[in-house]
Amino acid sequence: MVDDAKLHQFMGQMLSDLGGAASVALVRIGDALGLYKALHKHGPMIVGELAAAAGVSERYLREWLSHQAASNYLSYDAATQKFALPPEQAMVFAIEDSPVYMMGAFDLMTWMTESKDQVQAVFPTGGGVPWSDHTSCFFCAVARFFRPGYHNNLVSNWLPALDGVIEKLQRGAKVADVGCGHGWSTVLMAKAFPNSQFIGYDFHPSSIEHARTHAREQGVTGNTQFEVGTAKDYPERDFDLVAFWNARNHRAAKIDILAHERIDAVFEHRHGMLVHWAN
Ligand SMILES: C[S@@+](CC[C@H](N)C(=O)[O-])C[C@H]1O[C@@H](n2cnc3c(N)ncnc32)[C@H](O)[C@@H]1O
Repeated sequence: MVDDAKLHQFMGQMLSDLGGAASVALVRIGDALGLYKALHKHGPMIVGELAAAAGVSERYLREWLSHQAASNYLSYDAATQKFALPPEQAMVFAIEDSPVYMMGAFDLMTWMTESKDQVQAVFPTGGGVPWSDHTSCFFCAVARFFRPGYHNNLVSNWLPALDGVIEKLQRGAKVADVGCGHGWSTVLMAKAFPNSQFIGYDFHPSSIEHARTHAREQGVTGNTQFEVGTAKDYPERDFDLVAFWNARNHRAAKIDILAHERIDAVFEHRHGMLVHWAN
């Protein structure tokens, strides 16, 4: 027997889920065309003003804005006909250094749809999809998703959780960032601790290329190096600190690092693992 009340409740949930799914593409359009940033910069605007500021068609923009206001992503003042990006929404959509900047998560949702055929194909066999076979945007999305967390926590919270590590980094230490991806964590540490040397390793060559580009753009080529290498065989030794950020689901890699190094202390965090040596 179908329970009508339960069916209605479930349909409500489904419609809300589908609304969220439909918003992914529209939010990414707003990001790519600079619509959120324009509203953040200029304040409340009528459709025509935002269209001029962002260089887009007013006709399409009106539909986009209506969706955004209906979703509570923007606010709308009927008296002035102006749309605005409230401060809380700005933290999510426009301010890249905010701890709750979520554009990377929207990018990741797109990647899930794009990867559907690859993942579906391995369901019958139980096989895997190699990390390097994902669409190129996936790696950018991962990097963009994690970067705000590093920006707001890595140097101020996570590294100080290990006794004596900050002092050591200030004096000059040798650090590995294993599974560094696009290298944002490495670059941030290198900026904060110019006396220390940082080597980022990742087994994905294209991510290492991106990391080198970020290091150049951020002016830290002097104390960073990025190399293709696995957790099992990265060649350098005698690190003062080995970091493994946001790769905690890569269990085999984590175990490889622990086996590869002689360990005095391990600090495990929701976002990663830090290994360091007391002497
Ligand atoms: C979820 S991503 C995180 C990337 C980066 N740490 C960040 O936070 O943006 C995991 C990374 O670990 C790398 N990785 C996984 N297993 C690895 C292994 N055994 N050796 C080297 N890199 C590995 C992947 O290529 C990927 O870049």
